[in-house]
Amino acid sequence: MKKNSVADFFNNITDAFLLLYQSEYINFGYWSDRNTSVQEAQEALVKKFGDFSLLGESSKLIDLGFGTGEQDFFYLKEYNCKDILGLNISEHQISLANAKLNDFPSFKKKLKFIYGDATRLDEVTSEQVDRILALESAQLFPDKRAFLKGSWNKLLKGGYLCLAEPLVMKSEVFEPEHYSAIQSIIPKNFPRSSYFNVLLYEYLLLHLEKEKSNFDSKDFFSYYYDDYLKLIENSGFEVEAVENISREVLPFYEAFKEPVLKSIEEPSLNKKDIYFLINWLSIIYFRYYSFKNQCAGYYLIRAKKV
Ligand SMILES: C[S@@+](CC[C@H](N)C(=O)[O-])C[C@H]1O[C@@H](n2cnc3c(N)ncnc32)[C@H](O)[C@@H]1O
Repeated sequence: MKKNSVADFFNNITDAFLLLYQSEYINFGYWSDRNTSVQEAQEALVKKFGDFSLLGESSKLIDLGFGTGEQDFFYLKEYNCKDILGLNISEHQISLANAKLNDFPSFKKKLKFIYGDATRLDEVTSEQVDRILALESAQLFPDKRAFLKGSWNKLLKGGYLCLAEPLVMKSEVFEPEHYSAIQSIIPKNFPRSSYFNVLLYEYLLLHLEKEKSNFDSKDFFSYYYDDYLKLIENSGFEVEAVENISREVLPFYEAFKEPVLKSIEEPSLNKKDIYFLINWLSIIYFRYYSFKNQCAGYYLIRAKKV
């Protein structure tokens, strides 16, 4: 996915996501018996990531891909961070976040939401910080080398680049067998009509092909887990901690699927919404199966500028 299409994607789908899951976040969540709603699980991921990132009162941070900004209000309340600069390429999300900031002006002293591309950090005017966070956003940054180089330049010595993201471990994920296996978990009698089943399979294939081509264009978009860690180290960082939280993320499957299946049955739904929901459903099935099959996982990574 090119950068502009990522921005368009988030400009277009954010409101639908927030409505579908009644949540202010757009992440997979960190699930436990304690969370009863999608928003609670998603906020638990923010807390897990904040703890992992060693946030505290002295933290000055740059947050890359802040969604609707909710996570930064959380970081301020939970850790009393000193200063946060939120960067995002989705203009719609920036305006949602700034609207929240206008409702809580006391946060304005410490928090700023502006346009900024994580792969062009050198164009952003800011001081050096001691944390750069990317919560479920770096998997979408096309040029990883530029992102890592820019992060290095923006970090103070001893500072941390902290990542939370789904990563692919094995290329089997793109094999035809994997596609057939995913097909087998999709209900045969999809709501509405068999046409939607066909469409869902088409989207799934399209998604697999797109992901595969991102890996094939070697130095551009996607890296397998091992190569990604090597790339981070080759960019000068010392990878200090890695945590695999796939097991706690996996329950997203039921929680995310159900509202989609329910919404698709609504007679008033327009075509655009139906296509969005079916596309999203294909991504849910793809992610679920690759996590379950241990071809992919969800990781937290903390890398130090030494
Ligand atoms: C899956 S959402 C996660 C949002 C948020 N972190 C959350 O957990 O709710 C990915 C975010 O990354 C942002 N993003 C994607 N590519 C970006 C880039 N090149 N630079 C800055 N932000 C980017 C998107 O606009 C979106 O806010």
